[in-house]
Amino acid sequence: MTPVTLRYGNILQPQLGPGRGPDPSSLEPGGELCRRFEGAMAELHRRREAGELGFLDLPDDHALSRQTRELADSFGQWFEVVVVVGIGGSGLGGRAVAEALLGPFWNERTDEAREHFPRLYFLENADPDTTGELLDRLDLRRTLFNVVSKSGGTAETLAQYLIIEDRLRRELGEEGVRGHLLFTTDPVVGALRGVAAEQEVPALPVPPAVGGRFSVLSPVGLLPAAVAGIDPDEILAGARAMRDRCLSASLRENPAGLLAALLHGADVDRGQRVHVLMPYSDRLRGLSLWFQQLWGESLGKRSPTGGAEDEGVGPTPLAALGAVDQHSLLQLLLDGPRDKVVTFIRVRDREQGLPIPRSHPDRPLLSRLGGHSLDALLDAELRATVEALRRRGRPSLTLELDRVDAHGMGELFMLWQVAAVLAGAMYGVNPLDQPGVELGKRLALGLLDPGGETVERLPPEDPQWSV
Ligand code: PA5
Repeated sequence: MTPVTLRYGNILQPQLGPGRGPDPSSLEPGGELCRRFEGAMAELHRRREAGELGFLDLPDDHALSRQTRELADSFGQWFEVVVVVGIGGSGLGGRAVAEALLGPFWNERTDEAREHFPRLYFLENADPDTTGELLDRLDLRRTLFNVVSKSGGTAETLAQYLIIEDRLRRELGEEGVRGHLLFTTDPVVGALRGVAAEQEVPALPVPPAVGGRFSVLSPVGLLPAAVAGIDPDEILAGARAMRDRCLSASLRENPAGLLAALLHGADVDRGQRVHVLMPYSDRLRGLSLWFQQLWGESLGKRSPTGGAEDEGVGPTPLAALGAVDQHSLLQLLLDGPRDKVVTFIRVRDREQGLPIPRSHPDRPLLSRLGGHSLDALLDAELRATVEALRRRGRPSLTLELDRVDAHGMGELFMLWQVAAVLAGAMYGVNPLDQPGVELGKRLALGLLDPGGETVERLPPEDPQWSV
């Protein structure tokens, strides 16, 4: 098995031309990017020693992964459906795992094809259309709801939980509430932990030092995998191997250090502040969305030196999918402003190559495709796009993995999480907090409950600015 490989030649000056990328000497000891990396590693070790980087230790937490697997096994294959209810870091990680490892159309497969493992749905948004429609369709007697909230205080998730609990109670009675709910939440604080204790609802812990968007390797991401028959230990083995690489003090051997230094440098040295992640695999679409949250919420912060007129720092992440977005974003990437870096993900082997039949010999547009495979076509599209960008002097990185499997996903999750912490140190921000999200939450609560004491108020709308 080849470890996940980062190819970074196409972000460097020799490939792109003068002024278009960093000189490779910058990555060597004494070089500017290497210096930033060393400072960031020192900060990572400081945070780790202070007990702030719980995600780094999750691959070694065998007791927690056993607890997760045993709880998943205790449900057996009895439930036909598992609904994961959670938002942000409490939804995106589990979804990324499931989409990658269960493959397309899992929910449409027959019971036999799923080996009687449950169908999986993710309820992220508090959108009544989606929530109501899903609940109306389900046979609650055969459904388990995994309600996920690290804080146990997120309005969207708690509101959905209240609706679900009420339906369970009305349809199945008190026993139904206990038997069809599973919480994943902080081990001590929050509303869900309180309910779990009072009503004997089973609850998995998210370790205190593991924050929302850094929780995919905890029961947040592992429970949905385990209930569908995926071994969490395989994911954790990949994460462990990558973590060990990402703790290397040598920049040229540290893939997270290179990702962080090259992407941070692209932003602050050359104004390439849009960071696109573009896997060429439908299975990795969820990973792209997970990256978007991780990179945006961790790095988009008030500038460490900013005063009242603070402009803020941080890249703008953009989730994309190849080859689909060649037909929507590529024109912009090739000819639009030089403010973007694309990180491609290439999968070397897929389950299905899917040969393209030879036919229509008299129609060149059709006949030249015959004899190849969809796999080869997708790969050719990726390599051609990388080259087209390079010829225009536009930077890209490529992550390569053998196949989309549990080990590889563990590697990718750990890689980007360590890169986010290192990039946070380079930007001079705290990658673990999200103070900006709080104002929106207080304003929303003010609208729902205007009598509350700690709420913020909205100014009245001025009708002259509506049409
Ligand atoms: O990364 C974060 O901390 C946030 O995006 C959270 O994941 C999100 O707000 C959901 O929070 P919680 O898990 O507490 O419900």
